[in-house]
Amino acid sequence: MTGKERILVGIDGSEDAIRAARLAVKVARMLNATLTLAMIENPEDYAVTVERESLLKAKEELMWNILQTAKNEIAEEGVEIDTMIDVGNPALKLAEMAKNGYDMVVVSRKGLGATKSLFMGSVSVRLVQHSVVPVLVVP
Ligand SMILES: Nc1ncnc2c1ncn2[C@@H]1O[C@H](COP(=O)(O)OP(=O)(O)O)[C@@H](O)[C@H]1O
Ligand SMILES: [Mg+2]
Repeated sequence: MTGKERILVGIDGSEDAIRAARLAVKVARMLNATLTLAMIENPEDYAVTVERESLLKAKEELMWNILQTAKNEIAEEGVEIDTMIDVGNPALKLAEMAKNGYDMVVVSRKGLGATKSLFMGSVSVRLVQHSVVPVLVVP
């Protein structure tokens, strides 16, 4: 890839993801890379009977807020951070985004799911299975 290295970070609103993003900032500094904080909205999270359009609008605003908060929390001088949201299966969407323009993806081992007995969350497991770029999974 030409130009600056680019690192993609998966944000799901959990403290675990913020911790992963903090490490990502350190890595970005070492590699002189830029960061993108991405939050994927999973349509399967909702029953089909609810009004999807209005729900999506409300959810979108919430997602931008979560990303902006995450960005503020991890901001470090000299590291460029942007944010984006998308819709789809979170693991597959992150893998697709990474393939199309990133050098590395960073996620936490766990997230909002809080099934603490599981070794790894389903998004991080699936991302590791599908990604063609390196995935850094932060414990
Ligand atoms: N919807 C999402 N959008 C972006 N990143 C996500 C999303 N869901 C999970 N991730 C990333 O994957 C990590 C692990 O989450 P996940 O595999 O869903 O575990 P859990 O089952 O504990 O929620 C999160 O900390 C975050 O970095
Ligand atoms: Mg989850």
